[in-house]
Amino acid sequence: MARSNGKADPEVVAICARHQASDGPLLPILHDVQAHHGYVSDEAIQQIAEELNLSRAEVFGVVTFYHDFHREPQPTHSLKVCRAEACQSVGGRDVWAAASTAAESGQGDVQLEAVYCLGNCACAPSVQMDGRTIGRMTAERVSTLFSAGNSAGVPS
Ligand code: FES
Repeated sequence: MARSNGKADPEVVAICARHQASDGPLLPILHDVQAHHGYVSDEAIQQIAEELNLSRAEVFGVVTFYHDFHREPQPTHSLKVCRAEACQSVGGRDVWAAASTAAESGQGDVQLEAVYCLGNCACAPSVQMDGRTIGRMTAERVSTLFSAGNSAGVPS
C-alpha cells in the first residue's frame, strides 16, 4: 500500500497485519503502536488509516478521545503527588511546590501529576514514582526524585 510520505514504519505494518483480521482492530493496533513507540505519531495515524482503509480523521478521533493515548513522546518517569487533605495537612503543599518547581525547570525526565489520595494517608505526605508509593515525603526528598530520575535509594 502506498504511503503519503513514501516511508512505511515496518513495526506499524507488522502490528496492523497482526490485528487486521480481528473484529475491531483499531484499538489493539493503537495500544501496540504506543507500547512500541511510546506514543502515536501523525505518521502512525496516517499509516494505520491506510492499512485499515479508514480516514485519517477517524483514527485521529479515536486517538484523541482516549486519554491514555499520547500524541507526543512522554517522559520516562511518572511522579504522582497526593494533593488530598491528609497529605496537604502535613506538608503536602510544600512537596507539591517543590515538585512543581523541579518539573517547570525541566529537571529530570519526569511527568508530574496531581492525584487525590494514594491510599497511604497514614504515612502522609505521599507520592508515587513509577508505581512505587513513598510516604513521609518532604520537599527536599521530592527534589531528589527529580535529580536522580528514579526512586532508588528513597525509603518508602
Ligand atoms: S490523602 Fe494523600 S495518600 Fe491519602
